[in-house]
Amino acid sequence: LPGPTPLDMAKVLRSVRADPLSYLGRVRAQYGELVPFPVPGVPVLLVNEPDDARHVLQGNARNWTKRTVQYSALARVTGPGLLASAEPDWIAHRRIAAPAFHHQRLERIGEQVHAAADDAVSSLATTRGEVVDVAPAVLQVALDAVGRALFAADLSGRARTMLHASDDAASLVVRLGRALLPIPQAVPTPLNLRLASARRRLTRATAELLAERRRAATGGDDLLGLLVDSGLDDEAIRDELVTMVIAGHETVAASLTWTLMLLAEHPEAQARVHAELDALADRAEPVSMLRHRAQLPWLAAVVDEALRLFPPAWVVSRRSAGPDVISGHDVPEGTTVIISPWLLHRREDLWPDPLAFRPERFLDERAARSTYLPFGLGPRLCIGREFALGEMAIVLARVLSAYELRTPAGWTRPRPQAQVAVHPRGGLRLALTPRGRL
Ligand code: HEM
Repeated sequence: LPGPTPLDMAKVLRSVRADPLSYLGRVRAQYGELVPFPVPGVPVLLVNEPDDARHVLQGNARNWTKRTVQYSALARVTGPGLLASAEPDWIAHRRIAAPAFHHQRLERIGEQVHAAADDAVSSLATTRGEVVDVAPAVLQVALDAVGRALFAADLSGRARTMLHASDDAASLVVRLGRALLPIPQAVPTPLNLRLASARRRLTRATAELLAERRRAATGGDDLLGLLVDSGLDDEAIRDELVTMVIAGHETVAASLTWTLMLLAEHPEAQARVHAELDALADRAEPVSMLRHRAQLPWLAAVVDEALRLFPPAWVVSRRSAGPDVISGHDVPEGTTVIISPWLLHRREDLWPDPLAFRPERFLDERAARSTYLPFGLGPRLCIGREFALGEMAIVLARVLSAYELRTPAGWTRPRPQAQVAVHPRGGLRLALTPRGRL
């Protein structure tokens, strides 16, 4: 298979560090849909065929574990929490966390998400079309929603410490990912010291949250309660909480930000959202965590399309436990496979006019759903998918009921920046005009 040679590797690493998204696009244009990288000792394969992606993530998932560089970097912060853990531990953790995301429970936490969305709208308060950076408000609402929904009805000071410490820790994961050489944890580099201190803060914050919750008779049916009742030790509980905050807020914040940008750029699509929201308000129906797709089908299609164009989880990776065959090529045990929803969602043969924002693709049942994987596929599918989609519908409905969004004069789209999730570099400045409907 054609791909970069060992001589190219220094350049490859530089490009990956500088702008991984552009680099992925260039590699695909140059070499095709299956690209091997000659990393010494670790065969690496970029896989951009939907059938192969499904084979690795779903069909033969048993052979493909999360023992990869990506997930080891994450595990330096989250420990072996649900997102980074590999089988066989993973399934026990998934079973413990699953009830926190059951439908009944999701419908009940809708109220918490509405409250977080109200705060976001108040923090954006503008009067006459001022230009504001919406990214910080959106990040705050996502952090609040995850905190309120998963481990405290109202955010106590302790829960807030936990949230912010996890958010800081997430930025260290990004820096770890950029390090060219993995430096052993014991070496006192500035990054290792900051990581150790972040973990200490998280351990303290968890211990306080747990002490508070254990004073109550039962844990409660939120994630924290389920973890308290599960018999996991404090360290494992810390790892699960940090995992949920890291996995659950930047991803949602990034999707919300891109969706707002796309709507500001497309007034006709936005007018359709406004019409849908006004009709719902006239029926005095609150947006539901679970029924939002039936209530607001156009808004749901807008979110689907935003997640296609800007999938926050831009790359996932797996490592083979045994040999396998990918697109007719033998791959040895220990091969790392990289799958990029970003690349797959932009394949012109799968998505006509792939860079165009066309939510109507998702109103059409024949949309190429099998090549759409913003939440992953198979057994490791995102556990927070329904929660995230419900939360986005509620927050977007709240913001768009209150405001009309426009791009400011002299608009140029912010460039996408790949961090834990893909964000608009430098935030997102939009003009917000109150609509008089709250
Ligand atoms: C897994 C994306 C929101 C928690 C995943 C995976 C993707 C993803 C692609 C699979 C990773 C892989 O296979 O390697 C997203 C996106 C979100 C989102 C795009 C928002 C738009 C959330 C939320 C939570 C969450 C809100 C929790 C509150 C998790 C966890 C896993 C996961 C714990 C690991 C599940 C397992 O392995 O069993 N997510 N996610 N995510 N996500 Fe999400």
